[in-house]
Amino acid sequence: MEQICILGCESRGIIAPEIYGHFAEHIGGVYYDGLWVGEDSPIPNIRGFRKFIVDKFRVIKPAVLRWPGGCFAETYNWRDGIGPRENRPKTVNWWYNNDRRVESNAVGTHEFMDFCEMVGAKPYVAANITSQTPMEMRNFMEYLNMPENTTTLAAQRAENGHPAPFDVKYFGIGNENWGGGGNMTPEQYAREYIKYATVCGSVNVNGAKYIACGADSWNMDWTERFMREFAHRTNLWGLAFHYYCGQAGDPVAFTKEEWNTLVDRASQMETLIERHSAAMLAHDPDKRVKIVVDEWGCWHPGGSGPSKGYNLFEQQSTMRDAVIAALTLNTFNNHCDRIAMANVAQLCNNLHCLFLAGGENAIVTPTYHVFDLYKEHQGARQLESASTDKSLSVSASEKDGGVCVTIANKNYDRPVDVTLSAFALPLGDTAEITALSADDPHAHNTFENPDCVTLSAPETAAVKDGCVTVSVAPAGVTRVMIG
Ligand code: AHR
Repeated sequence: MEQICILGCESRGIIAPEIYGHFAEHIGGVYYDGLWVGEDSPIPNIRGFRKFIVDKFRVIKPAVLRWPGGCFAETYNWRDGIGPRENRPKTVNWWYNNDRRVESNAVGTHEFMDFCEMVGAKPYVAANITSQTPMEMRNFMEYLNMPENTTTLAAQRAENGHPAPFDVKYFGIGNENWGGGGNMTPEQYAREYIKYATVCGSVNVNGAKYIACGADSWNMDWTERFMREFAHRTNLWGLAFHYYCGQAGDPVAFTKEEWNTLVDRASQMETLIERHSAAMLAHDPDKRVKIVVDEWGCWHPGGSGPSKGYNLFEQQSTMRDAVIAALTLNTFNNHCDRIAMANVAQLCNNLHCLFLAGGENAIVTPTYHVFDLYKEHQGARQLESASTDKSLSVSASEKDGGVCVTIANKNYDRPVDVTLSAFALPLGDTAEITALSADDPHAHNTFENPDCVTLSAPETAAVKDGCVTVSVAPAGVTRVMIG
């Protein structure tokens, strides 16, 4: 019998709800025939957004939603996405060369903000700094956030149906500026960042937080050189790196070895956070700048989703993706002293998605259920934990007198029986155990079998002498709520 001990006296602080953040870029089928079906569609919708997704998404308490890209942001003109929909231009978007689909701009600022409100997510706007001027970013912020009856752009927002400011609190200044976002050096980008953040200062009327483009995965050089050049010259809330653990074999028909490869690579998120944190500390010893991971997930070869390759980057999501999501969220919880936000890429019909949809069909993926299980950690006080079995990924937190423990079993085919106890933390008498598991690690949901992978009904177990015993299925995820 393995042991997990929760240490009631050791905490890294509060788990920011924004760690449970999402990303919905204009790419492939994320919006069109995914999240968005249009107001006149026979498919049930709320002001154009697929009702199935709105209803399911709000359940998991999405804290924040990043938009409009990704790479898409770096050629996006926000003015194309406001005003009467029938007058909006059709434009070539960033991804046109990959899939020959043009952007209708049917989903623009007002639609996106409406979606955020429907599901209870805070908007996180990624600003274009590669093909727009600082003045245009400033204008966009003015349009979004200036109070009613102040400027002409605020009046235009009112004419377009939203007199009150949208109160956008998070702005990304650029995306992947080491690559698609301008191929800059860290020093060049730092100068651009400083310029944009400075120019936008005068319209920052609501204390909005700026997020700078961080490194691509293991590029510590970017982090170190950006921080050195930036040298706290202006406002910066967070530095965002991207980490895709990539692919290993087929998204669905992978081998045990490929399971292990990808799970190991995803587990490296922990080392990555520690290394970026160390690189930042040299120039920010007081940890004023937070770490954001605004794109993370698996990046399988495309074509395994229901559109059979029509939707760019669309991929099926199995129990492997669910376990990877679970261990990644455990890692973020356990580094909540450094990680202030994270956004899984992406929400629908794309990489590591929570929803697959098309026409009248819509389903949730196993990854959705992980976010459902883990929502109890949001805003809770993280507690350190120790496990005798290193193949278990664990995080724990306490809120309102209750303790939440989430366990991901990284083993392809080995169940783990574990006794859970606590040190310096009184536990209640009963535990509620909910699991996400399947007989087969390849299990996934399809339009034909939408509930092949779903959460178990919660089971009640007695806490005896301060311990509760749990069996964690192979390739499974279990949540234990105590007290
Ligand atoms: O998530 C897909 C793409 O991956 C994003 O647009 C980009 O930022 C990253 O390279």
